[in-house]
Amino acid sequence: MFKYVGDISIISHHIIKEFLENKEVAIDATLGNGYDTDFLSNTFKKVYSFEIQKSACDGYIKRKSDNVTIINDSHHLLKQYVDEPVDCIMYNLGFLPGGDKNITTKCETSFTSIKEGLELLSHGGIMTICLYRGHEEGKEEENIILPYLGLLPKSKFGVMYHSFFNRSEESPILIVVEKK
Ligand SMILES: C[S@@+](CC[C@H](N)C(=O)[O-])C[C@H]1O[C@@H](n2cnc3c(N)ncnc32)[C@H](O)[C@@H]1O
Repeated sequence: MFKYVGDISIISHHIIKEFLENKEVAIDATLGNGYDTDFLSNTFKKVYSFEIQKSACDGYIKRKSDNVTIINDSHHLLKQYVDEPVDCIMYNLGFLPGGDKNITTKCETSFTSIKEGLELLSHGGIMTICLYRGHEEGKEEENIILPYLGLLPKSKFGVMYHSFFNRSEESPILIVVEKK
């Protein structure tokens, strides 16, 4: 087992913890089993967590802390639920590990959410996107989201792309966007 070259979502936690100065409000765009929400809840004063699967929301509500609001709706509607600047937005795209692989994030809604999320992100804020290319929808997400992020103006956003160098072209990637 590697300590660093392993789980990209753990790497994203370290980046957020280390490099983000303001830790007031965060969004977990994909609650799933709640590991990212646990991290955000321990790190930020307030957390909004989106998830389309009611069973996942119900499962997490039992153990959620008071600073977490669970929203059983799609993350592309985030502006309907969050009307304050946020310091951090996490995307862990794809399907729920151990769950129904047909219920996965979709390129159109992921794209809309990321685009609107960048508007909501406060100056100095960080967005992390874990993208899994080993399934069809993940490849679509890669084809739509990456070109968009690559064209963000560098005067306003820093975009970094993390990938495994000695694994297949389908291995997961982590993209970090920092807003100036
Ligand atoms: C890879 S899992 C997330 C893992 C999670 N962050 C964790 O820590 O366990 C992706 C989740 O996104 C959810 N999802 C799919 N489409 C969504 C959407 N449009 N809005 C919000 N959640 C969505 C899926 O139901 C699934 O639970």
